[in-house]
Amino acid sequence: ILLMLLMLLQLLAVMAIARVENFTRSDFPVDFIFGAGSSAFQVEGAAREDGRTPSIWDTFVYANKGLSHGASGDIACDQYHKYKEDVQHMVDTGLEAYRFSISWSRLIPDGRGRVNPKGLEYYNNLINELLMHGIQPHVTLFHFDTPQVLEDEYGGWLSRKIVNDFTAYADVCFKEFGDRVLYWTTINEGNVFAMGGYDNGIAPPGRCSFPFGLNCSKGNSITEPYIAGHNMLLAHSSAVKLYYKKHKATQHGFVGLNIYAPWFSPYSNATEDKIATQRAIDFYIGWFLHPMVFGDYPHIIKKNAGTKIPALTPRESRLLKGSFDFIGLNHYLTLYVKDSPSSLNVNIRDIVADMGLSTLVEPEDAPENQNDDTSSSLSGILEYLRNVYANPPTYIHENGKRTERNGTLNDTSRVKYMYSYIRTLLDAIKNGSNTKGYFLWSLLDGFEPIGGYTTSFGLYYVDLDDKQLKRYPKLSAHWYSNFLKGRTIKP
Ligand code: NOJ
Repeated sequence: ILLMLLMLLQLLAVMAIARVENFTRSDFPVDFIFGAGSSAFQVEGAAREDGRTPSIWDTFVYANKGLSHGASGDIACDQYHKYKEDVQHMVDTGLEAYRFSISWSRLIPDGRGRVNPKGLEYYNNLINELLMHGIQPHVTLFHFDTPQVLEDEYGGWLSRKIVNDFTAYADVCFKEFGDRVLYWTTINEGNVFAMGGYDNGIAPPGRCSFPFGLNCSKGNSITEPYIAGHNMLLAHSSAVKLYYKKHKATQHGFVGLNIYAPWFSPYSNATEDKIATQRAIDFYIGWFLHPMVFGDYPHIIKKNAGTKIPALTPRESRLLKGSFDFIGLNHYLTLYVKDSPSSLNVNIRDIVADMGLSTLVEPEDAPENQNDDTSSSLSGILEYLRNVYANPPTYIHENGKRTERNGTLNDTSRVKYMYSYIRTLLDAIKNGSNTKGYFLWSLLDGFEPIGGYTTSFGLYYVDLDDKQLKRYPKLSAHWYSNFLKGRTIKP
């Protein structure tokens, strides 16, 4: 009997593995949505056309700052002119949704007030083209590209004035496009934008808390990342309030916020590394999610940052708490955390020092030998959201594999990556995760903040030497297409 039981168990185990390996799109709930993403600056091009004014991202790359090797968004993939062709590629791939962002300074060139008819026309055309082909638009309002005029006028996200201007901009978008767009994300990766843009200078507007940041000859102020983050949260909740007051009853859409959300794991078994890991989670994830779910910053941030982080007033806290229909996660990997007690002991601390972490180690340098499949990072973050933040409706807004942009269409490593992350996502959903959709980053090989045009995330290779910027589907586009159409091929 024991032997038979054992054999039965073995059979069940084999069946379980087989089921998981043969998963396909139809194993996901019918209302789950699969797509791919982009952002305005990274694909649109037409930077100086039809009334668009510069954003801080243009200024940043023109000044050769950041890690994009002097590349600009002037032409990028020229989606501004080639959107019809791109929508056709989405159709060919079988995408159900497209995540893109609106360029604030294309739509409202002075940052506030006058709406640019050409900007309106472009986004109307893109949205209509998507809908005509049954592709759901998921729109982000802010993706690192503050209108330069507002940066010059009052310091962009460092000033509370941006809350009103952002809300007015959001109102224009809701009013003009909300009859057709149901999924709105206010801000993309507010946590990365605050740290990269205001602490270490690797993102626009390229400000640094300390002189040792990238391209920084002087430090600005260690309070800046916290202030920018604070104003982003206020702007987010204000836009959500407006949507609910003015548009929800007629448009029936949903509004959420997006964060960069890697998973974090202790570098070693040492208790200090485990505690440091929780600090990393609170600083990266809790910084934005805690106020939205519980109405306040995590305790450890308030303790370590002290008066550097603005306090939320009772009114702000009320407005923020519950101010989302969904959370968007940009998830790529696990970072391994080492404790760095000394950084907590210095008197003047920037945000990284407040975290008390030494270098976050990427998977390549992980403590133990990792195999190809690193996708347990996704179960880690989704389980955390389920346990700590009451399992909010979640979209994987970004997930993807960086490869060299060497022209090969045979991107087997991307296919392997997608296969294992999508499989892990299916398991997570079966285990109760409230994930509603998955967007691969990205549709095209566009401008990348780290690497410019030398690196690639796309399903489609874009030939930059060709005047027409011709797109070519990679193996990953074919694989995704097969998966979406019901044939998953194990790489
Ligand atoms: C984060 C950002 O949202 C996007 O702009 C960037 O290109 C990707 N992730 C890849 O790094």
